Amino acid sequence: HDPAIGIHDLSLATTEFVLPHTALAAHNGTDIGKYHVGIGQRSMSVPAADEDIVTLAASAAAPLIATHGSDGIRTLVFATESSIDQAKSAGIYVHSLLGLPSATRVVELKQACYAATAGLQFAIGLVRRDPTQKVLVIASDISRYDLDSPGEATQGAAAVALLVSADPALLRIEDPSGVFTADVMDFWRPNYRDTALVDGQESITAYLQAVEGCWKDYTEQGGRALQDFAAFCYHQPFTKMAYKAHRHLLNYTGHATDEDAARRALADTTGYNTVIGNSYTASVYLALASLLESGQDLAGKPVAFLSYGSGSVAEFFAGTVAPGYRTAVRTTAHQQAVTRRREVDYATYRQLHATRLPADGGDHATAEQTTGAFRLAALRGHKRIYTTR
Ligand code: CAA
Repeated sequence: HDPAIGIHDLSLATTEFVLPHTALAAHNGTDIGKYHVGIGQRSMSVPAADEDIVTLAASAAAPLIATHGSDGIRTLVFATESSIDQAKSAGIYVHSLLGLPSATRVVELKQACYAATAGLQFAIGLVRRDPTQKVLVIASDISRYDLDSPGEATQGAAAVALLVSADPALLRIEDPSGVFTADVMDFWRPNYRDTALVDGQESITAYLQAVEGCWKDYTEQGGRALQDFAAFCYHQPFTKMAYKAHRHLLNYTGHATDEDAARRALADTTGYNTVIGNSYTASVYLALASLLESGQDLAGKPVAFLSYGSGSVAEFFAGTVAPGYRTAVRTTAHQQAVTRRREVDYATYRQLHATRLPADGGDHATAEQTTGAFRLAALRGHKRIYTTR
């Protein structure tokens, strides 16, 4: 009899700064209703000059190590689509910052916003092989589009760290999974660019097609019926997308679109994403954090996940919330991560958006803007230098 395997602990981190959508709307003359209602976003996390996916990831993972220690963690999977190096895994910097043992395998995974789910599934395989092991899966991303482009309002940044183990305290991940891949150019970022390219409407269509595709496979693999689920955690590039996706799924499966039922199934999953913005790989797990920290009693209930990564790959899977999960959630720390952000005005946001590390191989100190535990202090001879406070 296989032990239950899944998410034992979850910790999130986000940036030093935040830009409210009201400031963006005032700058570009957009009716605020388009942001607040049309896409369902209120503010977006903005990284400081001395923050990157590594500092966010270390901040997210540190509380897990503080609580559980590093015993049994033999694998660290770092999922991102805003990679800082073409060769070295960002996970190695995190491994170093957290003082993890040398007897660890570390790897970075990429498939747009989907990769953390691949990491989670690979982690489950490793734990199934040896249930005494734990795997640290970290999703960390900074979403950045060109200034004054339609994507600008859907930026954001965050990291989520998941400790995957046997007998998990939060969520037991179930078999089967429904998976789907299609070669589409809806969203991509060539190696020579640091902002993403996107065909907005095509990306929404591609997402909806992927929802159909992975749901179809999920049912063919013998998955649960749609009405079994207490809630649905969708990838949320903007929170309205979850509603579009869910309506599409109800329609596709021949269910009447009951707006009240859709709202009940999704409303508790959007809290963090509404105020953080798109965090790519982390987004679907921020949806889980919101859900688990909501007032709903979810003990023993099945929850659905729809993880989507442009390009595209999607996976539909289910988890059952562990009894007693309420004592294992980090609500206070997570809310603090959101409320501690300092609001910037539009001009400061624009300046931060344009900040780049020079590629000349010289010595460059970054401006000290962060107040958290980890910072990117400098670039020296093309090497990133991180410090701990
Ligand atoms: N009051 C209320 N609603 C309003 C409004 C107002 N005053 N003005 C407009 N709206 C509504 C519109 O009707 C529309 O709603 P519907 O989609 O339900 O019709 C919504 O606000 C957005 O308006 P537009 O479609 O005109 O917005 P846009 O063309 O400027 O851009 C976007 C929207 C395509 C999402 C753009 O922000 C974008 O390109 N974002 C990046 C790509 C993205 O996030 N794609 C999502 C799928 S891909 C994915 O999931 C992977 C990923 O993470 C990137």
